Amino acid sequence: EQIEKGGYEHFMLKEIYEQPSVIKDTYRGRLHANEGIIQMSGVEDNLEKFLNAERIIIVACGTSWHAGLVAEYIFEEFTRIPVEVEYASEFRYRNPIIGSKDVVIAISQSGETADTMAAIKLAKEKGAFVYGVCNVVGSSISRETHAGSHTHAGPEIGVASTKAFTTQITVLTMMALRLAKAKGTLSNTDFHRYLQELEIIPEKVKEALETNAKAKEIAAVFKDSHNCLYLGRGYNFPVALEGALKLKEISYIHAEGYPAAEMKHGPIALIDEHMPVVIIAPKQGHYDKIVSNIQEIKSRSGIIIAVVTKGDTQVRELADYVIEIPETSDALSPLITTIPLQLLSYHIAVMRGCNVDQPRNLAKSVTVE
Ligand code: G6P
Repeated sequence: EQIEKGGYEHFMLKEIYEQPSVIKDTYRGRLHANEGIIQMSGVEDNLEKFLNAERIIIVACGTSWHAGLVAEYIFEEFTRIPVEVEYASEFRYRNPIIGSKDVVIAISQSGETADTMAAIKLAKEKGAFVYGVCNVVGSSISRETHAGSHTHAGPEIGVASTKAFTTQITVLTMMALRLAKAKGTLSNTDFHRYLQELEIIPEKVKEALETNAKAKEIAAVFKDSHNCLYLGRGYNFPVALEGALKLKEISYIHAEGYPAAEMKHGPIALIDEHMPVVIIAPKQGHYDKIVSNIQEIKSRSGIIIAVVTKGDTQVRELADYVIEIPETSDALSPLITTIPLQLLSYHIAVMRGCNVDQPRNLAKSVTVE
């Protein structure tokens, strides 16, 4: 097992650090930035189905559901196809309106999640075209779906998902870009810019991993917290959900993710000098709005841990702790902003003496409902 961990103390840490290389594995042979081409056989073979789709419904559970939420923002922005994201467990039991004009995308690391599988079977029965985004080759879900794309993240052992999440987002981003190209919903300039940017994302993820020391330092301060709030807007709202999920899964600290502007409709009541608030505040996106959210927290004595773009000055003045990440476009930022949040959860869990790779009560794949 020590050998499998490749010198890392835990599988989770190894998998966090593998992200630059597995993201490359995910786009290898598919993304040709210089030629301006994205080639994914599953999409190519079924292009008409996607182009005729009146709606895309994404079904998934857990972290894969969060990747689905990021994909909703990306698909709608790039392709203008309406997208809904559903918990597979809810979808399967609510007699959903779905038919042959719908494309269902099922996301699953393991390809074995029982609820996701049941949602797929239901969608197929109702005549929808079902596309799988799975990591495990030959898994039940990759066999059950009509077509699909594997994420090529390699085996993920840590129960808390890390590299599966970022590679799922990578696949879904490439799908959205390919469809945008076919539909003409992105300008040529934007299309090429995103391709170039995606190609250098592994380098930026590598740079984001340099936040490790800072994340560890912040972890030492907050390891005994009882609660933690995670806030983000737009593309980084799902990242806030995922950050909170990571913390509760492995450290057993109660954490909630929220869209930053929704804070005033509830969570703001919880803010006092004991409440750490992790805010994802990159320069791109709704920066000014986030700054005013930070001011609201500050004026209620909340403790602010902000993830900011390198060189940021405005948030730095307000925040108690800052973690700097490299700049990227708003749409691709979840691939970067999620990295320090994974590291923060990891260090907090280690410092609390938790079983990071196998947290209590959780399973890597949930094959029962
Ligand atoms: C379990 C795992 C999570 C995972 C979820 C969905 O809860 O602990 O890490 O996100 O299942 O799994 P899947 O394999 O379908 O992505």
